[in-house]
Amino acid sequence: MEQKSVLITGCSTGIGYFCAKALQEDGYRVFATARKIEDVTRLREEGLESYQLDLDDSESIKAALDTVLEQTGGTLYALFNNGAYGQPGAVEDLSREVLKAQFETNLFGTHELTCQVLPVMRKQGYGRIIQNSSILGFIAMRYRGAYNASKFALEGLSDTLRLELKNSGITVSLIEPGPIRSNFRKNALAKFIANIDQQHTPFRTIYKKKLAALQSSEDVAFTLGEDAVYQALKHALTDKAKARYRVTAPTTLFWFLKRLLSTTLLDKILRKVE
Ligand SMILES: NC(=O)c1ccc[n+]([C@@H]2O[C@H](COP(=O)([O-])OP(=O)(O)OC[C@H]3O[C@@H](n4cnc5c(N)ncnc54)[C@H](OP(=O)(O)O)[C@@H]3O)[C@@H](O)[C@H]2O)c1
Repeated sequence: MEQKSVLITGCSTGIGYFCAKALQEDGYRVFATARKIEDVTRLREEGLESYQLDLDDSESIKAALDTVLEQTGGTLYALFNNGAYGQPGAVEDLSREVLKAQFETNLFGTHELTCQVLPVMRKQGYGRIIQNSSILGFIAMRYRGAYNASKFALEGLSDTLRLELKNSGITVSLIEPGPIRSNFRKNALAKFIANIDQQHTPFRTIYKKKLAALQSSEDVAFTLGEDAVYQALKHALTDKAKARYRVTAPTTLFWFLKRLLSTTLLDKILRKVE
């Protein structure tokens, strides 16, 4: 049987890295892309087929996909849109540029890559588009407005796409992880320091706590390993692919709370989340 090919974005660390290796071990042909060339080199040394793909750069997206398609003879079984980052900071402290940058990576780059993959999948009559969303793709939390907005947008776009792809043979799945062990917090900390003025803001005191939390190496409650996401990913690659996979206890809990509670009551609970 022909090996199924999967292109993954954001494989330098965390979920993307874990899933690339695990899928390869499970017999898939994995194209593990990464933003930085030094990560591509490292991934190749580790035995992965790796190419450079920066979601902020249209040329890089096209070049990576062209190369992958050359390797596969023009087919691609699945795309795992995983690469993204979190920009912390209160909504009123986000500049237009910072918000734009969050959307460039988490939404526009992902959308552009998906749109280039879809004609390939339509032509072959099958395919899997799998989006790494988040609990923050359907639940809003304080000081996470930029990331919330980008993942809510990803959910909206994916739900629409799923409707539009009905009967095409292509499925669209959203994986919604809660806290997962990875470099996510470390990368969010760097974006917080680089892009948010922590002094001239009504949130000065809160930001001190936020900074300490992002710097802490301790897991937040209910954190799981990357394998939890991998189990969802593997299922989304099968014929039984579901529209949504809720990963971790907080995701499942808040999914139900959002359906059961009024906005006022839900806000009461969410205001307690740091
Ligand atoms: N960890 C969690 O708690 C959690 C929870 C819910 C959802 N998620 C989602 O899971 C996915 C993976 O995150 P993670 O937890 O594994 O965090 P991570 O370790 O920080 O990995 C994020 C990956 O995205 C890449 N990336 C960032 N900007 C990119 C760009 N412009 N082009 C291409 N790749 C880019 C990073 O590359 P660089 O190393 O080059 O920056 C890295 O490979 C993300 O979509 C995230 O939103 C994570």
